[in-house]
Amino acid sequence: MIITHDLVSFLKARNQLDDKNIAFVPTMGALHEGHLALVKKAREIAKYCIVTIFVNPLQFDQKDDFIRYPKLENEDVKLLEQNQVDLVWFPKVEDIYPPDFATHIVVNGPALLWEGALRKGHFLGVATVVYRLFKFIKPQFACFGEKDWQQIQVIRRMVADLILPVILVNVPIIREKDGLAKSSRNRFLSEKERIKAPFLYKTLQQTYDQLQKGAYLFSALEKARSDLEKAGFNLDYFTAVNKNSLREISNWDSNARLITAARLGTVRLLDNM
Ligand code: PAF
Repeated sequence: MIITHDLVSFLKARNQLDDKNIAFVPTMGALHEGHLALVKKAREIAKYCIVTIFVNPLQFDQKDDFIRYPKLENEDVKLLEQNQVDLVWFPKVEDIYPPDFATHIVVNGPALLWEGALRKGHFLGVATVVYRLFKFIKPQFACFGEKDWQQIQVIRRMVADLILPVILVNVPIIREKDGLAKSSRNRFLSEKERIKAPFLYKTLQQTYDQLQKGAYLFSALEKARSDLEKAGFNLDYFTAVNKNSLREISNWDSNARLITAARLGTVRLLDNM
């Protein structure tokens, strides 16, 4: 596995690889089994797998969240090596955002709702970094985890609207045994919060099952919200949306997705089904 930090070494290594056979996995590090599932998928669909580890300052609306984001370079490298990644790049901030950098990618549509409405500038940061990484890496495929369902729809919109030559591949959510979606932020849950956290998944699952059996959408969502609040979750949203546009729906159908964001203490949990 080749490990690079500066842009010149990265491009040199990248240019040795066959253009038509690269799958890219963008990450912010603190890798877990969710990321490794992306790497596994990348290795199945292409000959070469490139991973980036870059905690993108532009997508954090809270400075504290950026500062406390876990940075575990040595552990991450070990995991990527064990999972047969070909090339890892730890971009420098000045390579992604040079001093006079002045162009951003603004996605509207699915980026305006939910996470986009609650975290100002978040999707501008995500779209801009992913666009720049795509330009440097020129992958044939890029793999993203379904845990950030809205993020996938925003990137799909950008790729379609800007006619970017990359095929996006979704990878299903990887969960702990008790159902909690794997996330780099789970490590910040206290012992008590960790015991409570899977209730978010259980509520999604129960609500989903009821809706599939024909339950009335409005009542099912109200019950889920009330159960979660009683259990001590501070809900940002728990709702049903069209899976592509992210617009709220009033009738459950095969294009629907349940999405939720809830806080337990200082940790914000995202999930969807
Ligand atoms: O999902 C993430 O980890 C990040 O949003 C991404 C796609 C690596 C962009 O910084």
